[in-house]
Amino acid sequence: VSVPVPFFHAGERAEEAAWLAALNAATDAFEVRPGRDMRAEDLARTEVAIVANPDPADLARLARLRWVQSLWAGVERLVGELQGVGIVRLVDPQLGRTMAEAVLAWVLYLHRDMPRYAAQQRARIWRPHEPVPASGRTVGILGLGHLGRCAAERLRANGFAVAGWSRTPKEAMAFETYAGAQGLADLLGRADIAVVLLPLTADTRGLLDAARLGQMKPGGCLVNFARGPIVDTDALVAALDAGRLGHAVLDVFATEPLPPGDPLWSHDRITVLPHISAPTHMTTAAGIVAANIAEFLKDGTIPETVDRGRGY
Ligand SMILES: NC(=O)c1ccc[n+]([C@@H]2O[C@H](COP(=O)([O-])OP(=O)(O)OC[C@H]3O[C@@H](n4cnc5c(N)ncnc54)[C@H](OP(=O)(O)O)[C@@H]3O)[C@@H](O)[C@H]2O)c1
Repeated sequence: VSVPVPFFHAGERAEEAAWLAALNAATDAFEVRPGRDMRAEDLARTEVAIVANPDPADLARLARLRWVQSLWAGVERLVGELQGVGIVRLVDPQLGRTMAEAVLAWVLYLHRDMPRYAAQQRARIWRPHEPVPASGRTVGILGLGHLGRCAAERLRANGFAVAGWSRTPKEAMAFETYAGAQGLADLLGRADIAVVLLPLTADTRGLLDAARLGQMKPGGCLVNFARGPIVDTDALVAALDAGRLGHAVLDVFATEPLPPGDPLWSHDRITVLPHISAPTHMTTAAGIVAANIAEFLKDGTIPETVDRGRGY
């Protein structure tokens, strides 16, 4: 009988219990148990663990640990805290669909001028504005990984002009792509709406600073569905206040939950969302995690791990 696979979850017990049930329902190949309930000798033998915001001290007790499977797609905290162990992040087609839907929803919100009409309603102003066809809007996607590509596809299916930016140049994509520093300047200068779907790394932290925001098309809008620290919020607020940029939709923040006293809450050119653009879907994620671990236990295959050099 194989050693149970430990699960380290820092959140609420009820959520942990729901994950345990979903994970154990997803496989007969092994058992998942809370790491804190496992015997020290079993923990010392295990080569794999499932994690959701784990305490690094717990993982340090796993002497033979080779890799961890995260329940989340963004793993910047693990990359910083966990050395010498492979990190596998969640790649789930359902997550891609959920994110693509969120990107479409909030791009449509900006495209069809919803913030402006909401403000007009509050002021009882009846004033139509000329609509722009979707094909007349360029949506620039920063990050062409799993989520960026899903979002691009959904936007294209809805008639938007799409362009994308990534670290390495892309070939044979169905839309225009850019790479490198000059590529970002070119994309930002063209995009009516820029959507951030980059991982948080040493290179992307503070990427959208005053200089980069200054390269955006005048009146352009920003959607950040990736990680808060990628955008310099002071610079963003300054650009919105000056009327240089139109509106920002922010789902992620340097501090979450966003503190009640934060001025972002009441800025009329900022839409604040509570990190909801693409939550992990428990059932599909549990199936993917279980399949990854079952394969490892069968033949030693470890899924693609985070590249420490590039940080994602
Ligand atoms: N708000 C939410 O609810 C939510 C939910 C899930 C995920 N997320 C966030 O979304 C992020 C992206 O997820 P994913 O699955 O799409 O990641 P991914 O598959 O790893 O893709 C990352 C993309 O970003 C590009 N990139 C990375 N560093 C770059 C740099 N310095 N300059 C230019 N491009 C760079 C990569 O370029 P290459 O193609 O050249 O490698 C790749 O195209 C996650 O890291 C997470 O933080 C947020």
